[in-house]
Amino acid sequence: MAAFLSIIIVIALGAGAYYGAGSGLRYFLGAVLPYAAVAIFVLGFVYRVLDWAKSPVPFSIPTTGGQQKSFDWIPWNRLDNPATKAGTVGRMLLEVLLFRSLFRNNTFKVHPGPKVSYPSAKWLWLFALLFHYSFLTIFIRHFRFFLEPVPFLISGIETLDGLFQIGAPRLYQTDIVILAALLFLLGRRFFNSKVNYISLLGDYFPLFLIIGICSTGIWMRYFGKTDIAAVKELTMGLVTFAPIIPESVGAIFFIHLALVCTLLIYFPFSKLMHMGGVFMSPTRNMPNNTRFVRHENPWNPPAKYHTYEAYEDDFREAMFEAGIRVDKLPEAPAAETE
Ligand code: HEM
Repeated sequence: MAAFLSIIIVIALGAGAYYGAGSGLRYFLGAVLPYAAVAIFVLGFVYRVLDWAKSPVPFSIPTTGGQQKSFDWIPWNRLDNPATKAGTVGRMLLEVLLFRSLFRNNTFKVHPGPKVSYPSAKWLWLFALLFHYSFLTIFIRHFRFFLEPVPFLISGIETLDGLFQIGAPRLYQTDIVILAALLFLLGRRFFNSKVNYISLLGDYFPLFLIIGICSTGIWMRYFGKTDIAAVKELTMGLVTFAPIIPESVGAIFFIHLALVCTLLIYFPFSKLMHMGGVFMSPTRNMPNNTRFVRHENPWNPPAKYHTYEAYEDDFREAMFEAGIRVDKLPEAPAAETE
């Protein structure tokens, strides 16, 4: 049901943009919507990150995956149980750049006997990595629409991505890889019964939305033959805050753009915020140094201490009279000392 609803929403958005492009909504779709979407994305993203940054961390809760730092003679797993800032940064880098925790993923199998085993399961890691790196490459390549002259780095990435020189226009490897990875990730939600059971609208919708964005982009490049010079005029108009909508920009471009804007608007309020959240998660950004650094709970009210010295000052005479040992003897009354 959630999958069906997601695909219906994406089709409705595409159909809306298609009809809008043909019925006088071109300025809205090509200028108003993109500006609004970027503003919502930036403000929403900053709001979410600040909200996380302000949240108290009452306990030291780093995730650990090996021996904690202890005595020198006990081998310490520096990477999976970092106790220093440098180690924590190292683990975070491996997580963000290589998805190391997914690489350590295991599955669960029951064999005759019955015997249980936990063999490694790397497919999710592989396709997640392929998806994210293809997306990043496509995202960077798109800067050719927003920059004039196109920087060397972006043309370089474009050349590398089309290295096999298949077809005209040249086929980008990332276009094939991202579609394959998206289909794998979607297939996993459909056919893996355990994942299917816990999948919600928020899991299917971004997948269908990104599939919609990529397939309209691929259609424009390889089949629809969009007027790229006109698109560049439009995008340069957007970045120079002088929006223009050339006549020759086709409806398919407006569908592509409307889906991209939907993604931007949806992003800060969805699970896609893991992009910013991974850096804010105490399970990832705290070193595991609980054996030698005291973690102060910011929720603790300021402690009111009554020290032993103050206690003795209050009750010294009575304690002395009752024969209780005191640190400081009571002062003799003035009359007696005369
Ligand atoms: C989330 C952001 C976006 C994604 C994932 C995306 C994805 C894609 C993909 C996969 C293609 C196929 C060709 C290629 O890989 O370059 C494409 C093409 C295209 N995209 Fe996007 N796109 C995004 C944002 C945008 C934006 C913001 C614009 C313009 C305002 C845009 C305009 C175009 C155009 C004009 C093409 C055709 C390119 C050509 O003919 O070479 N895209 N897009």
